[in-house]
Amino acid sequence: MNMENQIDLEKLQSKAENAFDIWGKFAIATNMHLGDHLGLYKAMRDAGPVTSESLSDKTGYHERWVREWLRGQAAAGLITYHGDGSFEMGPEEAMVLADEENPASVIGAFQFVPMVGALVNKIPTSFKTGIGHSYDSLGSDCAAMVERLLGPWYRASLVEEALPKIDGLVDKLEAGAKCVDIGCGAAVAMVTMAQAFPKSEFHGYDNSQHAFIRARANIQAAGVTNVFLHDSDEETIPTDHSYDFATALDCLHDMSHPELAVAAAREALKPDGVFFVIDIDGKESFEENLADNPLAPMSYAVSLLCCMSSSACVADGGAHGTLALPEGAMRKMVTGGGFQTFKRVDGLEHPFNAYYEARP
Ligand SMILES: C[S@@+](CC[C@H](N)C(=O)[O-])C[C@H]1O[C@@H](n2cnc3c(N)ncnc32)[C@H](O)[C@@H]1O
Repeated sequence: MNMENQIDLEKLQSKAENAFDIWGKFAIATNMHLGDHLGLYKAMRDAGPVTSESLSDKTGYHERWVREWLRGQAAAGLITYHGDGSFEMGPEEAMVLADEENPASVIGAFQFVPMVGALVNKIPTSFKTGIGHSYDSLGSDCAAMVERLLGPWYRASLVEEALPKIDGLVDKLEAGAKCVDIGCGAAVAMVTMAQAFPKSEFHGYDNSQHAFIRARANIQAAGVTNVFLHDSDEETIPTDHSYDFATALDCLHDMSHPELAVAAAREALKPDGVFFVIDIDGKESFEENLADNPLAPMSYAVSLLCCMSSSACVADGGAHGTLALPEGAMRKMVTGGGFQTFKRVDGLEHPFNAYYEARP
């Protein structure tokens, strides 16, 4: 059979272009990580037009390497070229690339690059064994990436926009509430709440030592004394129904047994307590994600490297992953875990997350 006669040449070309485009984006992503890691983006922020010579002088880096980096950044549409040998990072570009206080910041996500570099040789074994890699085993770059990617939203929106949408919660937090954050990571959410509600206490549970190093630094830098960290491999969450507020922020789909985390939240909460969950806003099926979720390609790829891998890090793990807990599956798991009500919290903007509240 002559295969060549059956090949659609237009389709072939578009498939090859797609693959080549993805390869190019991977190379650009690596250059973006370098811009972050080397401080080139921060050096361009608020600097007005720069040339490769002036940026080289400012940073101490070799002019030829700075020039090639600048040209690549402009060609990728990340910064602006003025046509006279000068490049500029405008205010919108700076919000995305060089200002981590801004909720539009995305640059922290590029710490993925060194994480993947260290991980890529371990993954083939997972294809054979089925066993993935915990967050902690992905090292300090992973903990840093998670904090830098998710932290800007907590700082900008958690207290100001999200918590007031949950009936009665802010009054309780102001008066002094007992709160538990399951899968707390670097504790940015807890520190933000602890600063806003000094009479409340916040207990964070996680099993990543890399995240705890960052959490301790964040707690110390903020000077808060009402945040407490607990290693969930050593301490279980109290089941005495003494907590007013439980959170599971961007972590249930990463867990080997998220149903146990839901049950722990239920057992920790008072009868009038509330459980606030943030998780990925996926579609209900793979087919719907394929048809109607522009973030599906990124989500499945990240899942394999990180979220599903974490959820599969023990032999009996659920191997959930980035798009495994859309609203329907989350509702089933949370109500199955003993919560009487479950609803989506509307009116909060996020590029990839959904928000839910559940009550015992
Ligand atoms: C994507 S991070 C989110 C961290 C934090 N909630 C935030 O929003 O910044 C997921 C977190 O879940 C934690 N995690 C995953 N599996 C866990 C488990 N079995 N027990 C405790 N923590 C777990 C990871 O260590 C990681 O810190």
